[in-house]
Amino acid sequence: NNASTPSSPCVLVTGGAGFIGSHTVLELITQGFKVVVVDNLCNSCEEPLRRIEKLSGLTEQIPFHSVDLANIDALRGVFKAHTISSVIHFAALKAVGESVQKPLEYYRNNITGTLNLLEVMLQFGVKNIVFSSSATVYKADYDGNPLRETNELGCTSPYGRTKLYMESIIRDVVDANSGWNAIMLRYFNPTGAHESGTMGEDPQQIPNNLMPYMSQVAVGNLKELRVFGTDYNTRDGTGVRDYIHVMDLAEAHVVALKRLPLHKGYEVFNVGSGTGQTVLEMIEAMSEACGKKIPYVLEGRRPGDIDTILCDPTKSTKELGFQVSRDLKQMCTDLWRWQKNNPNGYK
Ligand code: NAD
Ligand code: WQD
Repeated sequence: NNASTPSSPCVLVTGGAGFIGSHTVLELITQGFKVVVVDNLCNSCEEPLRRIEKLSGLTEQIPFHSVDLANIDALRGVFKAHTISSVIHFAALKAVGESVQKPLEYYRNNITGTLNLLEVMLQFGVKNIVFSSSATVYKADYDGNPLRETNELGCTSPYGRTKLYMESIIRDVVDANSGWNAIMLRYFNPTGAHESGTMGEDPQQIPNNLMPYMSQVAVGNLKELRVFGTDYNTRDGTGVRDYIHVMDLAEAHVVALKRLPLHKGYEVFNVGSGTGQTVLEMIEAMSEACGKKIPYVLEGRRPGDIDTILCDPTKSTKELGFQVSRDLKQMCTDLWRWQKNNPNGYK
């Protein structure tokens, strides 16, 4: 029932085998969309697609093309093989620290991939795109005020700059071509997993981010969590972030996709909860979810981090009509269910 024949319009999801992409593919199929996935599997595998098929009761495999966006001819082949009406563009490299070490790899992969995608969209007359952006595009607000879409932009890492440049490139394409619609979703800190416990985040290397690291400590794959910084200007001295359940984030993409036909042109929305948790509060919540203490050590600050990063969700609530519905407890319970049932991820 997901047969994507050339005549049935479908949503192309780039990076659809990855963490956020796979949860969004599931939500799209659940809401009745036909989907085509493109992913070069550089940070993922095909297994989440099999799990999506099972969860959604699909009788056919999800159309999947193992294509690198750098390969524009292969990408053209995908647009030839399906009638694509819109694109959700997740495919990117995303490790902040690695991007500092390998800036050219990040610029080449993220920017070239996006240029190729937009060029093929132009060629095939596909004018609708939802783009994975990030709170990292905002200039740091050291006072910890919630960030609005109108805040000043500015990044400190090559990864962040690729996001900023990709937003600008998409904006220029929208300005230059009539009928284009683009929504930039600036995510804050995604975590959690699908409530079935069969899908979740599966980092291919030792995780950099707090929650995947913590869940691997909880399941016994890693020894202890390192808490980076205890002297921040926050309620307990550790960093405050705005965590969002990956299924809420998946839903936000579908809401954005449904908005594209309203022809608003280029738009930007934050996707976060508007509330923040400290690292110690996250440890406490995760310990409760898994029913055991999570070993941790207190360390100095991680370079580049700041006290507080919070989302102001006013615009996305009012104009996009999106609000998170899953709380911290659910994020941790679902994350733990996934990690406990799949200690080695999809492997
Ligand atoms: P992920 O690594 O799990 O997913 C990205 C997917 O894109 C992977 O499956 C990877 O194999 C694929 N990919 C990368 N380069 C590709 C290329 N050139 N061609 C084809 N496929 C390619 O990461 P994620 O956490 O799901 O992130 C998805 C998107 O959201 C990324 O654009 C990321 O920058 C953005 N984002 C993530 C976070 C976060 O904390 N996870 C926060 C804000 C924004
Ligand atoms: C959260 C808090 C750390 C790891 C990053 C990117 C951002 C976006 C989301 C893509 C901070 C602390 C962390 C650990 C710790 N990604 N921490 N021990 O840095 O807010 O955002 O992911 O766009 O661009 O920068 O997320 O999960 O790394 O850190 O104490 O082992 O946890 O210092 O306070 P961050 P994070």
